[in-house]
Amino acid sequence: IFYQVYPQSFYDSNGDGIGDIPGLIEKLDYIQWLGCNAVWMNPCFDSPFNDAGYDVRDFYKVAPRYGTNADLKRLFKEAHKRDMRVLLDLVPAHTSADHPWFVQSCRPDKNKYTHWYLWTDSAWSWQKEGFSLIRGASDRNGCYLPSFFASQPALNLGFARPDPKQPWQLPVDHPDVKAVRREIKSILRFWLDAGADGFRADMASSVVKNDPGWKETSRFWREVRDLLDKHYTEAALLSEWSTPSAAIAAGFHADFMIHINDTAYDALFRQEIWRNHWTRRNAPSFFDKQGKGDITAFLKPFLNYQAKIRRKGHICVPSGNHDISRLAYGRSSRELELAFAFLMTLPALPLVYYGDEIGMKYLRHLHSKEGGYERTGSRTPMQWTGGKNAGFSTAPKNKLYLPVDSAPGAPNVEKQSRKNDSLLNRVRQLIQLRRSAPALGRDGKLTLLCAERGKYPLVYLRRAGRQRYLVVLNPSGQDQTATVILTAKEKPKKLIGRGRIDFLPHGRRTNLIAGPSGYGIFQISDGD
Ligand code: NOJ
Repeated sequence: IFYQVYPQSFYDSNGDGIGDIPGLIEKLDYIQWLGCNAVWMNPCFDSPFNDAGYDVRDFYKVAPRYGTNADLKRLFKEAHKRDMRVLLDLVPAHTSADHPWFVQSCRPDKNKYTHWYLWTDSAWSWQKEGFSLIRGASDRNGCYLPSFFASQPALNLGFARPDPKQPWQLPVDHPDVKAVRREIKSILRFWLDAGADGFRADMASSVVKNDPGWKETSRFWREVRDLLDKHYTEAALLSEWSTPSAAIAAGFHADFMIHINDTAYDALFRQEIWRNHWTRRNAPSFFDKQGKGDITAFLKPFLNYQAKIRRKGHICVPSGNHDISRLAYGRSSRELELAFAFLMTLPALPLVYYGDEIGMKYLRHLHSKEGGYERTGSRTPMQWTGGKNAGFSTAPKNKLYLPVDSAPGAPNVEKQSRKNDSLLNRVRQLIQLRRSAPALGRDGKLTLLCAERGKYPLVYLRRAGRQRYLVVLNPSGQDQTATVILTAKEKPKKLIGRGRIDFLPHGRRTNLIAGPSGYGIFQISDGD
């Protein structure tokens, strides 16, 4: 079970207003208490922070605001002591424009880094080349290709199909392209040797240009996987690709199903709320109380991917991340609990985005910070206590990385950990249940009992050996009914839930009534 930490907003140990690695180390016990056993931390490397650290200036050095390389090594050690793993963020598609490699690449004279980035042959060719290029950035006579923002020039991992009419497009086996690829592998090795347990790979699907079907992109990642299989057999690779069938075939151990490349994830939690740049869907989502969503829009592709990847890898379905609105936006704590009940009983790897376990809100009206724009509202400081700065930092308020949620009644860990049926304790129980029951994990069989287009509730069975669990979820605000095949002898024993779930046996079938925002996870015994 992953826990995603946005380092600048998690816990500030030195009172400068920004979260840091020693702060994260102090909070490892909390993450462990919650039941998560792997941490993915967003980039923590030296950077001018035009894109919150996704613009790396030195891949081999921890950003001073987060601490030192020694602190990061201590984080690995402390996590391992607790039987937890730490994944770093690998950003292979671009660097910061301030990176010394790019500074060299900008020079008009030919040097080692001339071809490390994607430059056209003329400063005047920005319109002709079919890419959206940056012009006039330096004395070098050419335009460069940005990978994300203008301040993130794309590293040159080659073109799968270079256009012979545009000689600046280098093939994947060009010696300079190979040098860039070697460098990426050496970054990986550097941190694995220091004790990291693996990486989440940023923009994994777009490292090679003009690559229909991701053929050369996959070949690159296969090489990376071979390196791990040879030298780091315990290390894990998780991709930001959102097409698990392609990512697992390319060598990733797991891939996120999220808001990019697909609309399936949005169909669960988010579309009428904040339609961001990536979201193409425009229909209600299943976990909204209007009850107008369609669970098959998620389940169909999900099951399709599962069938394709079989046991070769995992799909990770997160509660959220730093690029989208928070799960809590527009939802009550009870509705959130229900969403977590789904995430913890799905045959996928769960990930809790920091703060989602207490229902932290999406702060919509904040000014953009470090290239966050709308994303900024999902990146505010973790709310630990009801005290100063929500216990995040001792710095004066105006020094905080971002403002804390100051709304009366804003959730915090301290308050919720004391209340038995708080969201935090419920999420914790759901995680414990998930971890104690193999049937609920990835290897348990999933049988859909009621999962039809436009219908509520969602009902499914999870099974491993003789262990069977029935999951009933009704995110809608009305009573919903379903008929499932359960004999009178098969008695559902409730393990956790909220609201009304009634079973009315009727011969070999059972009529089931699920109250508004009601859910339940039941163990099914054979009655013998
Ligand atoms: C995806 C990351 O999640 C996002 O935060 C970042 O801005 C882009 N990649 C560019 O690196």
